[in-house]
Amino acid sequence: MSSLLEITWTDPVTGCRGYVVIDTLVRGLASGGLRLRKGCTLEEVRGLAQGMTRKEALVYDPADRYIPLGGGKGGIDVDPADPQAHEVLARFIAAVRPVVREQWNTGEDFGLRQETIDKVAADLGLPSTVEAVFATLDDAPAARERLAEAFAVMVGGVSLGDLVGGYGVARAALEMAAREGIAEPTAVVQGFGSIGGAAARYLARAGVKVIAVADRDGLIRNDAGLDVEALLAARDGLGVVDRSVLTDVELGDRDAWLDVPCDLLVPAAMSYVIDAADVDRIQARLVVEGANMPTLPEAEAALHERGVAVVPDFLANVMTNAWWWWIVFGDIEPTEASSFAKIDAVMHRLVTRVAEAADESGRTLRACALEVAADNARAVTERVGIVG
Ligand SMILES: NC(=O)c1ccc[n+]([C@@H]2O[C@H](COP(=O)([O-])OP(=O)(O)OC[C@H]3O[C@@H](n4cnc5c(N)ncnc54)[C@H](O)[C@@H]3O)[C@@H](O)[C@H]2O)c1
Repeated sequence: MSSLLEITWTDPVTGCRGYVVIDTLVRGLASGGLRLRKGCTLEEVRGLAQGMTRKEALVYDPADRYIPLGGGKGGIDVDPADPQAHEVLARFIAAVRPVVREQWNTGEDFGLRQETIDKVAADLGLPSTVEAVFATLDDAPAARERLAEAFAVMVGGVSLGDLVGGYGVARAALEMAAREGIAEPTAVVQGFGSIGGAAARYLARAGVKVIAVADRDGLIRNDAGLDVEALLAARDGLGVVDRSVLTDVELGDRDAWLDVPCDLLVPAAMSYVIDAADVDRIQARLVVEGANMPTLPEAEAALHERGVAVVPDFLANVMTNAWWWWIVFGDIEPTEASSFAKIDAVMHRLVTRVAEAADESGRTLRACALEVAADNARAVTERVGIVG
């Protein structure tokens, strides 16, 4: 299916390309973050925008005040560590400001922190990165206050907004591990930023032994279990751990993450990191997609053939997006307890429904989750209509 809107921007100063794709609009609105990644392509952003359409639909509950939006996404082909990245980002947002103001509700993604994009938006006269949604609400001032309050909550040194997505990934992994009867699981996580860091924290807190994590500087491993809180405390703004303060760890090549024997494999960094040639290296019993589009279709088919379930991205990492809207629409309180209770309940409902359908039909979790998203999308269309 073709996108509703695709923008390709070229930075007049550096020549870097940036992209916005609106896959679908619901009530004139789309939701989806912005990533900064050297090598990012229009095709990648298109796939991510389609994923956002699915995430929006998947969590639909007619009892919520939150009515799902359409899906959109942005990407800039720049290394987030490049000293010019901030200026490139500011010029990009300035250029696509009308779309941000009217349609595309955005936020952090790979290589971009929420506080950074908030600052850029504010400098351009946008009080938030979700102005288009606020414009549709009767109680926008109260919604703004709830969102600000939620982002001010710190949990163990990390902002709640940076935890909810990875908390959801951990919940998805734990639900599936329990269903598959995996006792005392071990886990390996690729990426230690917003999603990977929080997933590792909440897996460890649930008793999972996190034996290796990879960040952009390499692999950090301890087969007896890493001290995840110590790693989080040593992490910088790009999700890179300061090795000099670590004890009792083995350091390795970042691409060795796939070779570490474990039960739960959690890709939580870039897209396209597991291809068909990698499948034989994977010894895990479950792959839980914290990242968007980490597993290529042939790899997923081969894993399914071997009995390794892949919890798809638009199910496993759906909670960051949903949480924003539950807060904004007033379905939950801007607190840790209210946020985690809602995530627990919704992830349990979704994993149960999708896994039962997969068990009955022998199909992949992705195929079954796609069906749920499509059913929900139809229900949303019947309720509000799609403008596009
Ligand atoms: N942040 C969100 O709100 C959100 C929500 C849903 C899904 N996601 C997806 O989760 C994934 C991670 O996003 P994030 O926001 O956590 O990113 P982030 O920028 O916060 O963290 C990225 C992590 O990946 C590491 N990394 C970079 N290059 C690497 C490499 N070559 N090998 C191993 N690790 C490397 C970084 O060091 C960092 O630890 C992306 O696919 C993103 O689309 C993010």
